[in-house]
Amino acid sequence: MAKPTHIAIIMDGNGRWAKARGLPRAAGHRAGVEALRKTVRAAGDMRISWLTVYAFSSENWARPKAEVSDLMGLLKLFIRRDLAELHQSGVKVLVIGDRENLASDIKVLLEEAESLTKANTNMNLVIAFNYGARDEIARAARKLARAAGEGRISLEEVTPDVFETYLDTAAMPDPDLVIRTSGEQRLSNFLLWQAAYSELVFMPCYWPDFDQRKLAEAIDIYSARDRRFGGVAPQDVAL
Ligand code: IPE
Ligand code: IPE
Ligand code: MG
Repeated sequence: MAKPTHIAIIMDGNGRWAKARGLPRAAGHRAGVEALRKTVRAAGDMRISWLTVYAFSSENWARPKAEVSDLMGLLKLFIRRDLAELHQSGVKVLVIGDRENLASDIKVLLEEAESLTKANTNMNLVIAFNYGARDEIARAARKLARAAGEGRISLEEVTPDVFETYLDTAAMPDPDLVIRTSGEQRLSNFLLWQAAYSELVFMPCYWPDFDQRKLAEAIDIYSARDRRFGGVAPQDVAL
C-alpha cells in the first residue's frame, strides 16, 4: 500500500522515560520535544504531507500544576525556537483544540505560528493542544445548533460530510495512520471522529526514543495492512 498521506501521533511515555533514568518528569518532556523536532524533520524528508501531534489533551489539566506549567512552557519554547526553521522548511503550522481558555501569551504564539506559515505547502504540521475529541465534537455541535437556530442550515442538510466542516479539522484529510508510543493501546480522546478508519500502530518505545527509524517502522507496518473501509479488498472482489 502507498505511504500514508496523514500520520497522527500520540506522543506518550515522557514520564516513564524519565523515571527509568531516575530523572524528573520535566526532563522527559524536554527530551520529548527533541523527539518531536526529529520526527517533524523525518516526516518532511519522507514527503509526508500531514503530521498531527497530540501535545496536550483537554484532560491533561488534571496533572500537578507544576507539570502543566512545564508543558505550557515547552510549547512556548518550541514555537519560539523552531518557528523560523519550520517556516524556512515550508512547513504550514495549524493548531486544533480549544484555544478559548489558554493563557493569552500562548494564544498569541499559536496565532503567530499559523499566520506566518499559512502560505507554506511542503508539509502540514497540526499541533493538537488543549485538544480532546469529545470537546471538539461538542463544540462542533454547538456551532451547528447555532447555525440551525439562525436558519443558516436546515436539519436535512446535516450529514457526516457537513458535520465534519464544523470540526477543528475541517478541510484536513483524516489520518491514515495513528501511532501511539509507550505501549499503551488506547486513543485517550484523540481524533475519535477522524480516526474512524485509521490504521492504529502501537509501539512499545517511549516517545523520547522515537526517531526516523521508528517512524519508518510504523509506516512499514501500515503499508502491510489491508484497508477495506467496510468494503471488499479489490483482489477479492471477483471471488
Ligand atoms: C506524554 O507523556 C506527554 C503528555 C501527555 C503531554 P506522559 O507525560 O503522558 O508520559 P507517561 O505516560 O506518564 O509516561
Ligand atoms: C495522551 O496521553 C495525551 C497526549 C499524549 C498529549 P496521556 O498520557 O494523557 O493519556 P492516558 O492518561 O495515559 O490515557
Ligand atoms: Mg502518558
